[in-house]
Amino acid sequence: STVYVITPTYRRPEQVADLTRLAQTLMLVRDIHWLVIEDSHVKSPHLGVLLQSFGVRYNHLIAPMPERFKKIRGAKPKGVANRNRGLKWIRQNAVEGVVYFADDDNTYDVRLFNEMRNTQKVSMWPVGLCTRTGLSTPIVKNGQLVGFYDGWIAGRKFPVDMAGFAVSVKFLLERPNAQMPYKPGFEEDGFLRTLAPFEPHQIELKADNCTKILVWHTQTKKNEPSLNVDKEKYKNTNILSLKD
Ligand code: UGA
Ligand code: MN
Repeated sequence: STVYVITPTYRRPEQVADLTRLAQTLMLVRDIHWLVIEDSHVKSPHLGVLLQSFGVRYNHLIAPMPERFKKIRGAKPKGVANRNRGLKWIRQNAVEGVVYFADDDNTYDVRLFNEMRNTQKVSMWPVGLCTRTGLSTPIVKNGQLVGFYDGWIAGRKFPVDMAGFAVSVKFLLERPNAQMPYKPGFEEDGFLRTLAPFEPHQIELKADNCTKILVWHTQTKKNEPSLNVDKEKYKNTNILSLKD
């Protein structure tokens, strides 16, 4: 079945590099439908050109973060508007398959997508390099879920990383109110709770009973603000980020 990969993205110097790396992972996987959702009021034309170039089945959508959250100085609900837009697209266009939230800057082993492909309800697996404990994972004993390991449990029922779970499309469609809350730190837990009735013991454990890491929560280093490049001088180059 198809894996619908929902990827929030926003404008920044690393954006084209991050999306290229993710796309070229997805190019190696069969039956992927990539939903790339920009945190923006308009579609960036250069991203349209970029996405088209990979040959991965995709839709280019937009969903700006609401103004009231943009003003917040501390933790913002990053990627939430985008992911909810992706869920809306799924509700309007998909009938079966699996949904996965793949942020644009993580690192994905191609085998992960085939692990999640047969998800019946909700599946989970470890995520590397996550929080200060270095790992976020369901804890499995004798093939049974007995808890969660995460640097920040914070009273969450599902203390997992965004990259650590997938949901069956059919299961999602049976829950028309399921969506992600604008609650920094509680996006995953909030979303998984809206899948009720669903309890932790129903989680399908992947990656060899959660003993293998197939995805890492990497973050691309921010560079110094770039010099004001002379766009006139470079206008005949193919540097995508200079096109607008
Ligand atoms: C962590 C979690 O893994 C995210 O799922 C969660 O949304 C985020 O924290 C959070 O703080 O809420 P982190 O690596 O810190 O992720 O966040 P980013 O990778 O910067 O952002 C998550 C996703 O949202 C990315 O795909 C990014 O492109 C997108 N994003 C980020 C936006 O669309 N708009 C923004 O203003 C910032
Ligand atoms: Mn990230």
